[in-house]
Amino acid sequence: MIDYKEKFEKMKIAGNLASETLNMLTNEIKEGVSTDKIDQLGYEYIRDHGGYSAPLFYRGFPKSLCTSLNHVICHGIPGKRILDEGDILNVDVTTIVDGYYGDTSRMYSIGKISVKAQNLINVTYESLMKSIKILKPGLKLGDIGNEIQTYVEARGFSVVRDFCGHGIGEKFHEPPNILHYGKKNTGMELTPGMTFTIEPMINSGKYDVKILDDGWTAVSKDKSLSAQFEHTVGIKDNGYEIFTESVKVM
Ligand code: MF3
Ligand code: CO
Ligand code: CO
Repeated sequence: MIDYKEKFEKMKIAGNLASETLNMLTNEIKEGVSTDKIDQLGYEYIRDHGGYSAPLFYRGFPKSLCTSLNHVICHGIPGKRILDEGDILNVDVTTIVDGYYGDTSRMYSIGKISVKAQNLINVTYESLMKSIKILKPGLKLGDIGNEIQTYVEARGFSVVRDFCGHGIGEKFHEPPNILHYGKKNTGMELTPGMTFTIEPMINSGKYDVKILDDGWTAVSKDKSLSAQFEHTVGIKDNGYEIFTESVKVM
């Protein structure tokens, strides 16, 4: 058996900085604040704590983190947009510390949000956590997707197909792809030492995606609300570890 302990220690440090960045943003994300301000605060916090923001200049991405608002599914680019009461926002932070990556995202609500939006957020978070709780060696990738898809579809929402979780470690994105839908007992088997993200994107309407002219912003084609949560996890001999866990979740 390969010893993955040292790698896990480093991934926990990178992952923890990413989740602490999201914690720090909790009090900053409110009505009247621009998504550019969130980007700036995230960049500075990560820099000041010995890390680097992985998205900055990644494949030409212009900012340090992703801000995906309302019907934006993922890869929203921070800009001049001012947050308004009723908005729901996903902030996705990826750090590099000592050569290892930590990738996590969560939802923030601005003031009072609709019952439907809150339900979408709750179901998306639960689907991620349910899929994490079953992780252990021998489980198959299809079991992860199936867990998420079954839970989400039973509640009337849809799983986005065009984006997936990914292997992560000393690279931002590496094999395998972690699909958020699928059939039980299919696909690659999990083995101790594997590290990857699970990051379901859930739409309140249909799952079809449109990419905007900036080449990044992915929106729901039917303009329905979309939510996402992401954790970076590792498979251990007897289960799993979440590297991006934090006290505050929503
Ligand atoms: N953090 C995203 C993920 O979960 C990737 C963002 S890539 C960027 O994989 F270039 F858009 F930042
Ligand atoms: Co990711
Ligand atoms: Co991410």
